[in-house]
Amino acid sequence: MKLLFYAAKIYDKKSFNPLLEKYNEVEIDYIDHELEPITAALAKGYDAVCAFVSADVGARTLEILKENGVGIVLMRCAGFNNVDVEKAKELGIIVKRVPGYSPESVAELAMALALAVNRRLYKAYNKVRENDYTLKGLRGVNFYQKTAGIVGTGKIGAAMCRICRGFGMRVIAYDVYENPDLKDFVEYVSLDELLSQSDLISLHCPLMDFTYHMINIESIKKMKDGVILVNTSRGALVDTNELIEGIRLNKFLGIGLDVYEEETGNVYEDRSDDIMEHSVTARLLAFPNVMITSHQGFYTLEALASIADTTLFNLMEAKEGRKDGNDVA
Ligand code: NAI
Repeated sequence: MKLLFYAAKIYDKKSFNPLLEKYNEVEIDYIDHELEPITAALAKGYDAVCAFVSADVGARTLEILKENGVGIVLMRCAGFNNVDVEKAKELGIIVKRVPGYSPESVAELAMALALAVNRRLYKAYNKVRENDYTLKGLRGVNFYQKTAGIVGTGKIGAAMCRICRGFGMRVIAYDVYENPDLKDFVEYVSLDELLSQSDLISLHCPLMDFTYHMINIESIKKMKDGVILVNTSRGALVDTNELIEGIRLNKFLGIGLDVYEEETGNVYEDRSDDIMEHSVTARLLAFPNVMITSHQGFYTLEALASIADTTLFNLMEAKEGRKDGNDVA
């Protein structure tokens, strides 16, 4: 089985290559380019392609893959909002993903962001490096006995619920389905109740039409003053312009984002010499209570190993025509 691996980074090779002994029918070629219409034809002669969160797996890309004889798309991530699922089904292209590699890797980053913005760790780190030992601008709040509101209690949200409980927080949640594993300590409420009661709100639901811009000026106005908002799920859950409006209304103690609307084109690139003409993100970063990381929730040793193993397992399953919970199309 020949696999063309798009947008490959050194850490990808380090986690996939050791597994080729186990999956000895698989041959992988790694390329730097992202999977998009202009690069899709490079996969001619391959059985499968492997892509990540910033790929454009829309209708045109899928058509070109199909024209070039590629029948399998392996997403090495959980989210698949960048895949045109209906088009893939129409073309008979199998798309699989990795729904649950180490949920703790993302949930622990969500809590790290919550703590970092609460206690202004980014500021404190720089102050001490500059020989400034004052406490100005560093005051935070306790999480102990506060309320954590978790939106989406699937694998990652459930891990975040457990972490928040460990901090001695009351944990409330909103989801379209209740997770029975959490019933001992999580109270399910409506989204409006969650927004109005939480001191920390963490987003863990997928990006879909229904969840697009679920955090907007209307929902922000329903939040408590001094709330902390964390998004490690997908950028477009939050309307960035309206978030900025909310920051200006002094709603937030802190905002921690591992994902944001403009991240495509930035993710895992060094753009330090670029002038970002119309960047809303740059405007966001001008506020002292915002911290942004670049989609690194999945980036732990354990998660990478699990992603690599499941992706190659998915390739074998697709080859055998077997369907399972990892199928997107
Ligand atoms: P999951 O599928 O286990 O859980 C998602 C939960 O969201 C489910 O319980 C589902 O019922 C719920 N949900 C669906 N629609 C909803 C709505 N309208 N309102 C509230 N909840 C809703 O997914 P998992 O593994 O927990 O991942 C969650 C998200 O995290 C993914 O969709 C992905 O976008 C993001 N992610 C981010 C990573 C990062 O590196 N920052 C890495 C991995 C995933």
